[in-house]
Amino acid sequence: MSVILNEPPQGAPSAAKGRRSEESRHYLVSEILRFSQNDICVQNDTEAGIAVGAPHGGADAMKVPDPQAVRKAFGRIARRYDLLNTLLSLGLHKAWRRRAAALCGEGRWALDVCVGTGDLSRRLARRFRRVVGVDFSRPMLQVAQRRGGAALIEGDALALPFGDDAFDCAVIGFSLRNVADLGALFREMARVVRPGGRVVSLELTRPPGPLLGWAHRWYVGAVVPAVGALVDREAYRHLAETVGAFPEPEAIAAIMAESGLREVRIQRLSGGIVTIHVAVVP
Ligand SMILES: C[S@@+](CC[C@H](N)C(=O)[O-])C[C@H]1O[C@@H](n2cnc3c(N)ncnc32)[C@H](O)[C@@H]1O
Repeated sequence: MSVILNEPPQGAPSAAKGRRSEESRHYLVSEILRFSQNDICVQNDTEAGIAVGAPHGGADAMKVPDPQAVRKAFGRIARRYDLLNTLLSLGLHKAWRRRAAALCGEGRWALDVCVGTGDLSRRLARRFRRVVGVDFSRPMLQVAQRRGGAALIEGDALALPFGDDAFDCAVIGFSLRNVADLGALFREMARVVRPGGRVVSLELTRPPGPLLGWAHRWYVGAVVPAVGALVDREAYRHLAETVGAFPEPEAIAAIMAESGLREVRIQRLSGGIVTIHVAVVP
């Protein structure tokens, strides 16, 4: 079942905090939490309002992802997404998610941006009283809905439908490569997290060092597209291309800092195949 939210929060999203009135603060979070775990709330302007974006920063030139193409691709692969994750990561993604969830800390409300099928949310639900997940792909959300663990919203990560300081933490898993404007994304995540709360990202990266680097290039360049083609050739070719061209963790950390986040830390897992960024909202 889905619920259409016809009343978006008051006031336009702002990069600077504190422009919204006290009355509008948390308005949509409490509204969403009134619905059961199994409803998908639809931000009423999702279709029309998906932000287009700006080039990713960093040393590597990566094409700006086209949000509509990304949305369609995840719509096509939603039912097989979890299985492919387990196959292609050889099961390691579970440990990576566990680590990212642990670095989110504990608290009342957590936000899972680009929630997908909700795997990370289910881990966050052990640490936070309630978890809200946002994604613009309805088929991905429908899988998450069946599995439970989070209140779900169909919406745009670049225009989060919440007031300032609404959450204790915001996390994004394996999605930076799909988002069209990283600066805008981190500013939005920082805006909706209370001062002292954390913004966390878990992302596929390229391992440093010649041997692991070579093995990784082979795996991502040959194995991922071949296995992925069994489900959706284009989507998994995109995955391989974006991992190869995505900015280095240090460049991502710099974008986070430029977006107003503080104490940005980088933690590499599995030799650097995956990187977690943790930052604090000032
Ligand atoms: C690779 S999946 C990651 C899903 C999940 N976070 C995980 O850890 O498995 C990327 C997700 O980001 C979503 N996405 C990409 N850009 C988005 C945007 N601008 N707004 C909302 N969702 C977006 C896609 O629909 C997709 O579900």
